[in-house]
Order: sequence, then C-alpha cells, then structure tokens
Amino acid sequence: MLDGNVEKSSYPVTYHVTPVKGLLNDPNGLVVFKGEYHVFYQWNPTGTTHENKVWGHVVSDDMVHWQRLPAALVPSEDYDKDGIYSGSAVVHEETMYVFYTGNVIEKDGTRKSYQCLALSEDGRHFVKQGPIFPHPAGYSRHVRDPKVWFDDEQSKWYLLLGAQTDDGKGTALLYSSRTLRDWQLLGEFFSEEELKKLSQRGFMWECPDFFYIGEAAFFLYSPQGIEEEGDCYQNIYQSVYLKVESLAAGAVIADSLMYELDWGFEFYAPQTFLTTDGRRMLYGWMGVMPPAKEQAVPTVKEGWLHHLSIPRQLDTRDGLLIQQPAAELKQLRAAHKQVDLSDSWRYCPSISTVELVFCFDSEAEDMTVRLQGETAITYSRDSRQLSLSRRDWLAQRTEYRNTTLDRPLTELRVFLDGSSLELFANHGESVASARFFEDGELEIVYEGCNKGNAVIHELKL
Ligand code: FRU
Repeated sequence: MLDGNVEKSSYPVTYHVTPVKGLLNDPNGLVVFKGEYHVFYQWNPTGTTHENKVWGHVVSDDMVHWQRLPAALVPSEDYDKDGIYSGSAVVHEETMYVFYTGNVIEKDGTRKSYQCLALSEDGRHFVKQGPIFPHPAGYSRHVRDPKVWFDDEQSKWYLLLGAQTDDGKGTALLYSSRTLRDWQLLGEFFSEEELKKLSQRGFMWECPDFFYIGEAAFFLYSPQGIEEEGDCYQNIYQSVYLKVESLAAGAVIADSLMYELDWGFEFYAPQTFLTTDGRRMLYGWMGVMPPAKEQAVPTVKEGWLHHLSIPRQLDTRDGLLIQQPAAELKQLRAAHKQVDLSDSWRYCPSISTVELVFCFDSEAEDMTVRLQGETAITYSRDSRQLSLSRRDWLAQRTEYRNTTLDRPLTELRVFLDGSSLELFANHGESVASARFFEDGELEIVYEGCNKGNAVIHELKL
C-alpha cells in the first residue's frame, strides 16, 4: 500500500474533492440524502494507476467542507470482482439506491460488465443486491456507467447506459422501471439515423446523463474517439452535451451540434444532480490524460493523483448551458484586495488558494493574466479569443488551449487551488480547467489597460 497523503503534498489541493491517497477519477452517485450531500468517486486506494477501483465517499452539509468516509463499495462478488465502476444514486422512500457497473476480467483476459444495485438506509452502509438486468444483445462488453433518475411527467424511473455496439460505435441505451428493480430495455437513446446529424460519433460513450433545465432537455456524455475540429476536442477524450427534444428511445437531437463543456486541458466524465432547492449541479473529473503524462504528474511520487472540479451550477442562457461556480463557494472568501485594471500590476497573495474576479465596465481590451511560470490567460479583443497556456510537464514546452467567445469578454472568474485552475468567462458561458505544476510562489501579473476592476479573494476552508 502506498502511503500517499494529499494533506502533506507539495502541490496541495484543498477545497476540491481529492483522494487521501491513490488515484481518483469519475464523480459517482451524486445525491442529497437525508440532508447530506454525498459525493462518491472512482478510487484506486492502492496506487496511482487505473486498477482496483472502489467507490470513494465523502459527505458534506454545504459542498464546501467535506468529511471523508470509508470506501462505500469495494469488489466482493463474482459480478464486481475486478472493480466497482461508475454509476449514480437516487433516493426512494428513505432509501438510497446506488447503481454501478461491476467490472470482471476473466482468466483468459476477456472482460464482462454487470449493471448492479446496492441499497443504503443510512448513507454509510451499502448492501449489494446484484445485477439488475442481463447484458444487452448486440453490444460489446463496453457497456457501463448507469445513470438513473425519476421523470415526473411520465412518473417512471429511467436509466441511461453508456455503450458500444458490436461493430464498435458509441451509443447510449435507455431503460425504464416503475420499481427501480425490474428494468425494461426501451432501445438506443438516439437512432442510427439521428446520430448521422453529428459530425462525429466516437467508438464508445462513457458516463451519460440526461436532465431538464426548465423545459429544455440535455443529454451529456463523454464520447471516446472524437477527433479535433479547430479549437474543439483538443484532448484525448472530451465531455459534450446535445440539446434534445424528447425523453424517449429515438430522441431527436435539436440542432446537430456537440457542445464541449470545458475547453481546458483536464475535464472529463461529468455527472449532475439536483440540490434540494432545485439547482442542477455538476461535478467533473480533472484528470490528466494520456497515461504517460498522467504518471508524470508530480503528485504521483507522493502517492496521490487527481481531484474533482468545483461544483458548478448549470443554467441556460439563449438555449445553451452555462456553468457557474456553486454559490456555496463564496463561504471560502477570506481577505480580499481590489485592484484597478487601467494599468498593469503584480500581486503576490500570501496563499495559493485564490479566486480572481475581473469585471470590465464594457468589453475587455487585449490583456494577459500570468499566474505562475507559463500558466497564463490571454484575451484578444479583435478575435474574441480567450487562451490558456501552461507548461507541459512531460514534453517540457508551453502548451495552449483556445476558444472564441460568442460575445466580447465582460467578466472573468478564476479559481486557483494550489496546482488547480478553473476559469469561468462571461458568467459561465465559457469554462476551462487545468492543472499546472510550477516552482515558486503564486504571483498574479496583470498586463492590460481596461476600464474596470479585479477583486482577489483569498480562499480559506
Ligand atoms: C470514465 C470511466 C468509466 C468507467 C470508469 C472506470 O473515466 O472509464 O466509463 O466506469 O471510468 O474507472
């Protein structure tokens, strides 16, 4: 067992959900149960590689202060002996129903996956109920990540499953149930014909999700095998959403576009849930890919790796999703400093957990915000291009991600947590996440000439 310890890290990450040791990946089972927020996550407690997955577990009253609990689900049965893979949780009649994929690797190396149920009465102990339906015919063993929710209008439970057809195409399967135990396969969420609307399909869809915001329906998924298109889909795998017109097998894709949720370097496998006061909240995994770069992350030597994003509230603006930091995070704000943007400045906060809020009186002019080493955010007024750069710690050179904003830049919020960065432009219209590993202290350097101001909040747990 590695004796990793996130608390003693030279690259501390404090207000994000981290593994105490080992590797964290997808957020799982996001749910409010008996007044507590539960976040589960894919966790290898034994090392920093993608093996031995269990469900890590933290609880909170406010999505800011987290208490670590023992792993909620660990391999123990024939149907989940090689890993408790991703899934979701719902609450029904005072019981938490947890759906996950049991991963099995046979002696000859072939894989099997089982969609399984576990129940909890107290949010601490989980009792496995076993697989809930047979493997669907016509799909490879890459069938996983059940997302379950209740549809008020149709008064039924639904379950979406990420899948791969036998001939190697990504897809999602829709099931329904009245009881949460007997599930009926309704078919593929989108028909073959409908999927031709998309510029690319990919070879596997992971971690699907479906939700309404007001009347608008969204399908969110993490397709694998998408090639870059201009500034989009620059990472190996990405997470996108589709606007859809109905909840049914054979749903209609509203405008044939795949919208990337986050144009940064590290963001994957997001899932959403509803807070008690009706906000749609999202968590993603800020994981580094591919494996060579992942294993070169400096925290690997410390025995821990990766963290989740901050909770992001989803809303719509002009029919598209916007993502804004959960209001709860304002609790973290401690001392602050306000600075004018009419001239360049340099500011060294006393800690590396900081929120920057830039407000421009009208649209922003060309500007750069340097953070540490090669980590910088740049905006170009003419092209409306927003860029994020950092040092590629494996290739030892600067690397970039870019986006073109739909509207001129008027507002920019940046959350820094040691080696973690998340930026939100124009009140959540455009979002990017990244890790960065630089020597030295955080030093915020603003270069520009703008009307407006910036507030630098120190963040303290
Ligand atoms: C996404 C994913 C899921 C799977 C889990 C395994 O990152 O590959 O599809 O359930 O991670 O850890």
